[in-house]
Amino acid sequence: MNTIMTSRAYEAARERARVLLATMTLTEKLGQLSQFGTSIYSDNEQTFDDHFTEGKVGSYLTIKGAQRTNGIQHDLLAATRLPIPALFADDVIHGYRTTFPTPLAQSCSWNPEVARRCSEIAAKEAYRAGLKWTFSPMVDIARDPRWGRIMEGYGEDTYLCSRFSEATVRGYQGEGETVGKDRIFACMKHFAAYGACIGGRDYNTADMSMQTLHDVYLPPFKAGVDAGAATVMSAFEDVNGVPATGNRYLLTDVLRGEMGFKGFVVSDAGAVVELIPHGFAEDEKDAVRLAFGAGCDMIMAGDPYNDRLPSLIEEGKISMEQVDASVLSVLTLKYLCGLMDEPYVDEDGEDCFFCDEHMDAARMAAHETAVLLENNGVLPLRPAAMRGKKIALVGQLAGAEGKSHLLGAWSCLCDPAHTVSIEEGLQNALGDACEIVTVRGCGVTCADTAEAHEKEAESIREAVLAASQCDVIVAVVGEEAGMSGEAYSRSDLTLTGHQGELIDALVATGKAVVLLVSAGRPLILTPYKDKVAALMLIWQPGSSAGSAISDLLTGAVSPSGHLTTTMPVCTGQVPIYYNHTNTGRPALGNWPFESKYRDCQIAPLYPFGYGLSYTSFSFEGIRLSADTMTADGEITVTLTVRNTGDTDGAEVVQLYIRDLVGSTVRPVKELKAFDKVFLAAGESREVTLRLPASELAFHDAAMNRIVEPGKFKLWVGECCTDERYEFGFEIV
Ligand code: GLC
Repeated sequence: MNTIMTSRAYEAARERARVLLATMTLTEKLGQLSQFGTSIYSDNEQTFDDHFTEGKVGSYLTIKGAQRTNGIQHDLLAATRLPIPALFADDVIHGYRTTFPTPLAQSCSWNPEVARRCSEIAAKEAYRAGLKWTFSPMVDIARDPRWGRIMEGYGEDTYLCSRFSEATVRGYQGEGETVGKDRIFACMKHFAAYGACIGGRDYNTADMSMQTLHDVYLPPFKAGVDAGAATVMSAFEDVNGVPATGNRYLLTDVLRGEMGFKGFVVSDAGAVVELIPHGFAEDEKDAVRLAFGAGCDMIMAGDPYNDRLPSLIEEGKISMEQVDASVLSVLTLKYLCGLMDEPYVDEDGEDCFFCDEHMDAARMAAHETAVLLENNGVLPLRPAAMRGKKIALVGQLAGAEGKSHLLGAWSCLCDPAHTVSIEEGLQNALGDACEIVTVRGCGVTCADTAEAHEKEAESIREAVLAASQCDVIVAVVGEEAGMSGEAYSRSDLTLTGHQGELIDALVATGKAVVLLVSAGRPLILTPYKDKVAALMLIWQPGSSAGSAISDLLTGAVSPSGHLTTTMPVCTGQVPIYYNHTNTGRPALGNWPFESKYRDCQIAPLYPFGYGLSYTSFSFEGIRLSADTMTADGEITVTLTVRNTGDTDGAEVVQLYIRDLVGSTVRPVKELKAFDKVFLAAGESREVTLRLPASELAFHDAAMNRIVEPGKFKLWVGECCTDERYEFGFEIV
């Protein structure tokens, strides 16, 4: 597959880089491996001008705006001996200014094109602001919603995450020969297995079999590398005893050796010197030796490489060849993106921020990311049916206060003032037909003081009074933006503050309650699912939240999101994921001695792949091209999907398999293909899903990646528990 990293342009850039490299001093070389600026941990933005003359700055992070980056670039180039511009980067995770749904939300669209388009626009805005590089996509598989960064990735499934990984890389970098105007370099992170942190506690140890590491956590990185990802970020945590940032097996043997990665690796913020508290490095110099020696080309952030590598080279502990190889990788990308030929960005380009095209794209994306979990028929609230009625809109997240929270964590240089609140969206959609009464109800959180609790109780009473006068209640609960994301692990996933009491009080009015949940992660919704008339997981939908959510509530668009992360019944079920192994005592309810909990069901509240629509679909004429294939063969599954309802909608056709007997135990279900089909009412379309035998490969006990002969089951369904259509095939 031709990507920017295999193109002729790449080779030409590399040749130019070689020529420049030969003219550089050691100090100038090490400067190219050193990134400066402030990460999310501090606001004291510095530009280290005193480093310019010696050429000690190669890159910056978190510098905001074209004027600012041009100014720094000018000062740097005026001072350095060689005209090597700095590479500006930032955490453009789900939008730069225009904010898109969080990555976890995007994955629930089951439409990689959504992620590609969101990333493409994010790249354009970021480029116009002087950036050439983003620290995204985050492709860490997450099976534990206690981990706050589950919001930042694409869920629990390796196959689906891989499809979103490649789509996002292509969105940022484009698919041409080079990374040109309005494109930025992607950075696959966090290499590797950061989401496997024990207890869902951020930065905690990840410890797993090599088989799990290679079959579950690494493939999304491979998919991104194959799509041409230019950079990779090393993770904080220790993996099987070796910190990822000092892990030569991961950063060199696997990433470069097995995956064929040709770009450069940047450390996570502070991860190099954190090898010391890990107990893996004695001091800063030792940490630099271990990290750079493992294959961590660039440090985020500061001087440790500038300060420590000279003596390490002098002592023969780090080779000049390795330094040159790292510098060559960095310089090659600087040539490839045109930075060497044009160090400055047009300062007039930022007028595209929040433009209609971008806001519409955010709206379209949010249409596809919301997951309808329950609906007794109360939805949609069609304008004609709502004429003359009153809607109570309740919750801190519903009105202006919710604007910043609907953007989620890692929303870069967002601007809540541009967010369309749910209240505004509903007013725009239904304001002419009916009266919308907005009341706060209660906050997402509540200070633990008697006064605060009493104030919330009073607020709930007021909301109930108002709601009692209305025909239908729309309540918005969940998390504030800052309650997920980095360093926000939670031990309890139940609704915070008085939100649960608010829901109960609203239900007690006897009015139909439409419950919207806005959160960065799965929360415990068990107490509410059977009480409310409708339940929709809207995640954190971004700048056009209110417009998209009102489109979904009024039926202008039918929900089409499906879960990519399992929704637990209670926090005690976590970690919980669909592609688990069966054990020798699966919970079949036959006797007490089974693998289960005595105080909770074993099944989740809502399974992976689940999601409702306002219409219904049928799968007809499902047929396999064959019921056997060789280890290098392929089976196709063909069917007709029909919209059997009276509303347009989109169906996600999912293909799962089970390897019935393996030389190591195999998961009870594995997603191996999916397709999203948009169908008008009554419309049908033929869908073909491909199942190459190579997708069935796994690492056996001896770490050989094999496709084993044997019998398989295959299902085509609407979620991982849908076994209405079961087939068998065999690898021969
Ligand atoms: C943070 C994050 C990483 C981010 C970096 C720069 O610690 O772990 O994902 O890109 O620092 O902000």
